[in-house]
Amino acid sequence: MADVTDLLDAGERLGAEELRALQLERLRATLRHAYAHVPFYRESFDKAGVRPEDCRSLADLARFPFTTKADLRENYPYGMFAVPRERIRRLHASSGTTGRPTVVGYTDNDLSMWADMVARSIRAAGGRPGDVVHVAYGYGLFTGGLGAHYGAERLGCTVVPASGGMTARQVQLIQDLKPSVIMVTPSYMLTLLDEFERQGVDPRGTSLRVGIFGAEPWTERMRREIEGRFAIDAVDIYGLSEVIGPGVAQECAETKDGLHVWEDHFYPEIVDPITGEVLPEGERGELVFTSLTKEAMPIVRYRTRDLTRLLPGTARAFRRMEKITGRSDDMVILRGVNLFPTQVEEIVLRTPGVAPHFQLRLTREGRLDALTIRAEARPDASPEVREAAAQAIVAAVKDGIGVSVGVEIVEPGSLERSVGKIRRIVDLRPRDTGRG
Ligand code: DLL
Repeated sequence: MADVTDLLDAGERLGAEELRALQLERLRATLRHAYAHVPFYRESFDKAGVRPEDCRSLADLARFPFTTKADLRENYPYGMFAVPRERIRRLHASSGTTGRPTVVGYTDNDLSMWADMVARSIRAAGGRPGDVVHVAYGYGLFTGGLGAHYGAERLGCTVVPASGGMTARQVQLIQDLKPSVIMVTPSYMLTLLDEFERQGVDPRGTSLRVGIFGAEPWTERMRREIEGRFAIDAVDIYGLSEVIGPGVAQECAETKDGLHVWEDHFYPEIVDPITGEVLPEGERGELVFTSLTKEAMPIVRYRTRDLTRLLPGTARAFRRMEKITGRSDDMVILRGVNLFPTQVEEIVLRTPGVAPHFQLRLTREGRLDALTIRAEARPDASPEVREAAAQAIVAAVKDGIGVSVGVEIVEPGSLERSVGKIRRIVDLRPRDTGRG
């Protein structure tokens, strides 16, 4: 393999000092742009008593107010845009499974920057110009499909725009068109794995050598399962529509040690999810992003609700974020015990007879919160195997997380999915006792 440093783009070659200087210049321009053109930012900065000129160092960003998903909803659909609507070339909407969607917009330059960042991500994952890239993220308002698509084209790849669904056909396409790269949610990759096995095709024998998985949290254990059963390198891609879509941060194939944040365009901070205070590098907390070059929808200190920490760069000079462990609003507090869906995933993955497709249902029984894990059976699992799996999960959650839960093994494919993502938490508790 050629030395990867030969393939880096200009942004990836910046030294630490040059990068900080560029970030400050871009940050100041973003704050000025947002304040001048978005009434929401003008009001929120004025209320906090700060002006764009007050940002003289990167640390000064902490003086500026946060932006939340609720702010975007309140300004639905076009209120957050900083350019006339005619300059917006594309709209996407967030994949939220509840409430009003949030709409995001892109100018020509934004779309080009986004394609550059996804191209950079695919390259960091091990993809190269000339590769065939199978895109199985959903196409449409979700940013996954089109985001991956234009990034792969920008890198010079041949794109198969498969989108989500029609699993049997996906397997056929992979066998016929011989992609070397696949971009898909990790949970849908496991559905594809089941389909390969159902069709009697050896998943280790395909042309695939790189999988770029994101849009939902997944664990090291899932990486090992996917890599072992497909004979590919499985790496993590992160992003969110409010910031751009996929391609905000990407794990490098050569190190697989967390995701390098493309900091020349997206400035990360980690804050205490309760107090909002900026935490020192290395501490875990909520990830907050400020865009540095976006035109249509500059975003200032956006609260992602994703929990992680920042670490120094390795394969690239940019800082890394650790794999997302959960969201601050995904954390279930069950009778005093904190629980993340990823912890349940670890358990479900090592339980024979169940597929790694599961959902957590929160209910209230008397005065106590109760949690039922619904996990899909593998198609070939007998009633006895299903029963044993349920008991094994109950015991493993009790042992490993320290809380008693119920488990229901449901039919394959029966859990509700939105753009390939399973809605992990269904909270059926009465409102006043909602999430802790
Ligand atoms: O999921 C964008 C995307 C598409 C990323 C394809 C990667 C691949 P949204 O629909 O706005 O955008 O959802 C964003 O998904 O705040 C995280 O909670 C979660 N998420 C995205 N990537 C990861 C990841 C897209 N690699 C929300 N690991 C984010 C964990 C992720 N969670």
